[in-house]
Amino acid sequence: MNILVTGGAGYIGSHTVVELLKNGHNTIIVDDLSNAKEEVIERIEHITGKRPYFYKIDCADKAALDAVFEKHSVDAVIHFAGYKAVGESVKKPLQYYRNNIDSTLSLVEVMEKYQCTKLVFSSSATVYGPNNPYPYKEDMPAIQSTNPYGWTKVMIERILTDYTTAHPEFSVILLRYFNPIGAHESGLLGDDPNGIPNNLMPYIGKVAAGQLDHLTIFGNDYDTPDGTCQRDYLHVVDLAIGHLKAIEYAENHTGVEAINLGTGTGISVQDLVNAFESANNLKLSYVIGPRRDGDLPAFWADATKAKNLLGWKAVHTLEDMCKSSWNFAKNFQ
Ligand code: UFG
Repeated sequence: MNILVTGGAGYIGSHTVVELLKNGHNTIIVDDLSNAKEEVIERIEHITGKRPYFYKIDCADKAALDAVFEKHSVDAVIHFAGYKAVGESVKKPLQYYRNNIDSTLSLVEVMEKYQCTKLVFSSSATVYGPNNPYPYKEDMPAIQSTNPYGWTKVMIERILTDYTTAHPEFSVILLRYFNPIGAHESGLLGDDPNGIPNNLMPYIGKVAAGQLDHLTIFGNDYDTPDGTCQRDYLHVVDLAIGHLKAIEYAENHTGVEAINLGTGTGISVQDLVNAFESANNLKLSYVIGPRRDGDLPAFWADATKAKNLLGWKAVHTLEDMCKSSWNFAKNFQ
């Protein structure tokens, strides 16, 4: 298939492009490089021996997107492009709503014009909100978030669902990710956010590399086995393979399907710190600090649907995730 990947130079996008190319698909990346680097295109080519098409455009720019569809015969789209920092979204809500929602509307309007009917959307476990019991299952209400970033995911899921009701020939797969970490085995692709990282693993990478002094563990007084928060960390390469399976599934599917991509296991912040130290044979400097506003104590996925529908299961271990994260961080930070 000819697959357009918005945000394809980003962390999850770039790993997904590698898996698509390895499996014989052609890829067209659209990315404005607001949180990614152009060198990533070279690195994808280095890994796969194939060069993806690349357009440095904002996905909300409908005319620019139209020109890409005019040039390439696009069979399907994977839509990653969007702002994703939870804390920043609280400070800049309009920017988040404008960017994330506009880009999706522009994309689907252009897809409609060119009769492209297959879409995989990058959603998040955040749509389960603060009230569902874990493990989260796809049939639980996914209608609430705790921050503007998360609300854009809830709203876009709604928009795509309503669009599909009106266009029953359309296929949308809403992939709800849990916490992706890890990096490509080559050490060439990984999570390299601009500025000081908000997420745990890139922060740990910078501490281990000596660029940040220490990690603060946000709270150890939660009602969890060791008092620190638990999340479902999954390897970004497993996540990328989940996208490959989802887009291939969409080829013969119509309607809306929400699918969790997680391991089904909760790992605590303290577990992750310990695993990083022992996998990489180093010591991390860390302190225990107060809780971070908005953090839920624990959640993880029920990953049964992904297995049944897509034949997908996360296979990388926590050790793989910690080793590959450090392999990337020590090269590129
Ligand atoms: N944490 C620390 N110290 C840090 C950073 C994080 O202790 O410096 C802890 C957090 O308190 C949390 C855990 O590490 O318990 C994971 O935090 P992340 O920021 O890495 O991830 P979140 O679970 O908060 O957020 C992730 C995604 C969001 C998504 C959210 C809910 O980054 O996109 O899950 O699904 F919205």
